[in-house]
Amino acid sequence: MKRSIAFVLGLFSAFLPLAGSTALAAGVKIGLSLPTQREERWVNDKKVMEAEAKAKGIDLRVQVTDNDASKQVAQCENLISQGVKVLILAPHDASSASVIIDKAVKAGIKVVSYDRLVTDSPHDYYYLSFDNVKVGELQGEYITKRVPKGTYVVLAGSPTDNNAKLFREGAMKFIGPLAQKGDIKIVMDQFVKDWQPAEAQKLMEQALTANQNKIDAVLAPNDGTAGGAIQALAAQGLAGKVPVTGQDAELSGAIRIVQGTQSMTIFKDTRLLGKKAIEMAMALAEGKPIDTQGKVVFNNKKDVPSVLLTPFVVTRENLDAMLIDSGYLKRERVYRK
Ligand code: BGC
Repeated sequence: MKRSIAFVLGLFSAFLPLAGSTALAAGVKIGLSLPTQREERWVNDKKVMEAEAKAKGIDLRVQVTDNDASKQVAQCENLISQGVKVLILAPHDASSASVIIDKAVKAGIKVVSYDRLVTDSPHDYYYLSFDNVKVGELQGEYITKRVPKGTYVVLAGSPTDNNAKLFREGAMKFIGPLAQKGDIKIVMDQFVKDWQPAEAQKLMEQALTANQNKIDAVLAPNDGTAGGAIQALAAQGLAGKVPVTGQDAELSGAIRIVQGTQSMTIFKDTRLLGKKAIEMAMALAEGKPIDTQGKVVFNNKKDVPSVLLTPFVVTRENLDAMLIDSGYLKRERVYRK
């Protein structure tokens, strides 16, 4: 009898950790604040996190700000008042979003800065993203190998997005020295408001006009802006003749790579990022610390403990293996007739 009680107790305790965390997960409220749903990239993030939350029984409350910093503050205040335990926050405006962290911390809510770093906050929070300087390095290395000499258009993302600065910083490690040497001439160096493709197109049109179409390479920070720049090139019969970088492995970017008008993209697997975000949020909700193995990113005030996933270059050569075989994009959609 004694033995069987011990056995039952043993069995019970063996399942206890699992039962405990499932019970905790069930119904736990987590807030998610996203900058936009106008880009495929952010549609994917939302889908992944919603599916992951559903599988774990988490009550995920999602808000989309539509690139509006003050709306994001109001929406996050609302999430805070709904009693979320953790806030996953992808800021539209890196610096002004520090107010959101103030409010969350006051309410005892933990924050994961998602994909984009919230800057200038003195509080404790986590950062989950890809290695964004590396993203820029991969773009810069690629384009300077393709075009080691010539006339460059350098586009950067939204000035309100810390990632835009990191991507540019990484890329300029390769472009900068060649520009100093005089091999590369940068005829335009511009941030693109809100990452808008139409804005990138306008800038590219201006650069083409001002330089009598003599542009040899375009550093475009993501697939959206690459698409805008390529439209401007196409209007001059130059699409496919001028190398253009990208990022995000969006379907439209992959199609352009296959068709030869965009040279590369950067694959950041949003499935891994979204999954990791939910995992981190759950750990924080349960009061568990997160081991970032000493990795930090500076937010202008302090080092933020960071989990940074790896980005990969995708070109025509490895697109099938990277994007289709991995199930990220569907073959029939990339190779549509
Ligand atoms: C993300 C990119 C995205 C861009 C525009 C950046 O913060 O890291 O993946 O293309 O925002 O939404």
